[in-house]
Amino acid sequence: MPAPAHPGPKHTTTPVAFARALDLGIIVPTFNERANVPLLVQRLDAALAGHGWEVIFVDDDSPDGTADAARALALTDPRVRVLQRIGRRGLSSATIEGMCASAAPVVAVIDGDLQHDETLLPAMLDRLLIDPALDVVVGSRFVAGGGTGDWDRDRVAKSAFATRLSALVLKPALAADEGADLTDPMSGFFAIRADVVRRIVPDLSAIGFKILLDLFTASPRPLRFVELPYTFRVRERGESKLDHVVAMEYLIALYDRLAGRIVPVRFAMFCLIGLIGVVPHMGVLGLLHFAFDTPFRAAQIAATGVAMTFNFFLNNALTYRDRRLRGARQLFDGWIGFCLACSVGAIANVGVADFLHDARQGAWVIPALAGIAVSAVWNYALSSRFVWGRY
Ligand code: GDD
Ligand code: MN
Repeated sequence: MPAPAHPGPKHTTTPVAFARALDLGIIVPTFNERANVPLLVQRLDAALAGHGWEVIFVDDDSPDGTADAARALALTDPRVRVLQRIGRRGLSSATIEGMCASAAPVVAVIDGDLQHDETLLPAMLDRLLIDPALDVVVGSRFVAGGGTGDWDRDRVAKSAFATRLSALVLKPALAADEGADLTDPMSGFFAIRADVVRRIVPDLSAIGFKILLDLFTASPRPLRFVELPYTFRVRERGESKLDHVVAMEYLIALYDRLAGRIVPVRFAMFCLIGLIGVVPHMGVLGLLHFAFDTPFRAAQIAATGVAMTFNFFLNNALTYRDRRLRGARQLFDGWIGFCLACSVGAIANVGVADFLHDARQGAWVIPALAGIAVSAVWNYALSSRFVWGRY
């Protein structure tokens, strides 16, 4: 092909670093932080003067109207964005969606309650701009110059214990030549390259609060990091959401990383709760049959009903806490659906056990266990699809 007579207009190239209007996307997971939203935006504005930034509030439909507060600011300040999630809960999953919603090359995660030191953000960004080999800059409470501020001894001890536990999954994820260990894997305050996040997202477990630990342990290659010190501030408005469920979610997340590929964490919880359901079942059966002389079949039916109800509520609160059914109507429909799913599961249980029992001429342990296994898988598949699968 002949070369064009006149070469096209020469494109002038501006160095990308100067051309960018957006250096940093700040992701703020929020749940009931209405009063903190305007203060945080003011502080970001002061801390990041001269930088191109945006802030994305990822709000899980907070009843206090946090998303509205953020939208009110966004009307006059396009650097403020809002992602309002309906029917879902979770700090980690909110953070992940926020990180994926920004076009900025670097994203930072910071709590919405002003407990993290936003004046550290420019230094975090600079580190990543200066050193292309670096993946993530972690705000740490445990390197020289950092601190946990006003924490009571109880919380310090619990946090230290959780950090020690994290070594279980973290050790194999850190490079052998990484001189210093990551001192604050539980930090909720860090800056990371957005392309690195996008690569890891499919492998994140997204459970609970510990997004940084999740990122480190899901990455196919060790992430290169530095830690910068900061002091955790006291919360002045609103309340912490870190409770027993969050602590349990942490253990679940660790399990997921260690064995989740073999037995998925939700299925493991579902089975565990089913096992615990044996206790109320036996209790009711024993009480009705022995103490009140109820015929065995009637007592067994009542006990099954109680155990199914017990399992439904426990699964709703724990296994499916991120898509929990709420309110009388949802709960009633869910309960009916769960009981139906389990009844079909019970028929499958008996069918499989009967079949194996006949085939193996009298052996009963294996047929019984096989029946239980089939009904567990069946109940789980059906209820996760039809009872808790609406979102
Ligand atoms: N979208 C969303 N969904 N946000 C949430 C949720 C949720 O389910 N739960 C909490 N958040 C938001 C809060 O509104 C707040 O902005 C931030 O996440 C941190 O929640 P806090 O409840 O204030 O947590 P904390 O202060 O006890 O714990 C923080 O410090 C820990 C360090 O020990 C968090 O940053 C943890 O990630 C961190 O490990
Ligand atoms: Mn907090």
